[in-house]
Amino acid sequence: MSTTPQNLQTLSEEFGQLSLPHGAPLLVHSALSTLGWVEGGASAVVEALTTTATTQGTVLFPTLTGASSDSPDHRPHSDQRLQTTWCGAIPCAALRHPACHRSVHPTHAVAAIGPDAVELTADHASAQSPCGQGSPYTRLAAAGGYILLLGVRHDANTTFHTAEELADAPYVSFPGRYSCTVIDTLGKYHEVKTPIHRWDRPRIFESWHDRLIAQGIVRELHIAQAPCRLMRAQDLIDWLTAQLQHSPRALLAPHSPYP
Ligand SMILES: CC(C)(COP(=O)(O)OP(=O)(O)OC[C@H]1O[C@@H](n2cnc3c(N)ncnc32)[C@H](O)[C@@H]1OP(=O)(O)O)[C@@H](O)C(=O)NCCC(=O)NCCS
Repeated sequence: MSTTPQNLQTLSEEFGQLSLPHGAPLLVHSALSTLGWVEGGASAVVEALTTTATTQGTVLFPTLTGASSDSPDHRPHSDQRLQTTWCGAIPCAALRHPACHRSVHPTHAVAAIGPDAVELTADHASAQSPCGQGSPYTRLAAAGGYILLLGVRHDANTTFHTAEELADAPYVSFPGRYSCTVIDTLGKYHEVKTPIHRWDRPRIFESWHDRLIAQGIVRELHIAQAPCRLMRAQDLIDWLTAQLQHSPRALLAPHSPYP
């Protein structure tokens, strides 16, 4: 683990440790400040990720815009021309990358850079649910993709929601689907009919970390100074979905209302 400032070259070497299979896409949840000082900031991290983290693979970034105030009476709306997300400086830098493609979704959009960017982000607007069947999260998994938690924990691991949605966990969203508007990067309006996540059901995703390690699903490593976790998305989804079928409250905090 290095404590010297990072630059494009040292970061590229660090990302080489991931040893991903050829062509495997990678979804990165991140906290820039955990890497130590990076010359060039978030853009340098995006450059290192997209040029070296995967061999011919695509790198994806969560670019969520949903808010705790979202509800059927207060529907989410996203204007992607603004290039905003609350997922941190690295996803924001990815949105400014000239080769970035962003999925069209009012709450759970994903940005992608690389050879499969268009395919992995396509048709999010017609996915069954924000993170479920047909979303970039399941497309990544079906493509043999990986998830990297770069300096963050499972609380930031959106793919836990994928498992919840695939297992039809009733607490995830308000019942029904609602029309929400998205303006894409070119200024085109989209009417997207989607379930809306509710934010008043606290989760305990991080408490599953030790079990995920014990199952061999998650590998721990360091990238520069950042403690990281790497996992194959489909393995995570399959195992979590099985846990939810057995124990539907498994990912909910004990005090969380259910359903
Ligand atoms: C919230 C979160 C983004 C905060 O992480 P963070 O490292 O503090 O913030 P960012 O990644 O936005 O990086 C900006 C910070 O990096 C640091 N920074 C700035 N320039 C830097 C550089 N060149 N080198 C290293 N660090 C730098 C600063 O502390 C900066 O914070 P500031 O803008 O307040 O000064 C992170 O904890 C998180 O949760 N990430 C995952 C988000 C996600 O994927 N959510 C999905 C939910 S389902």
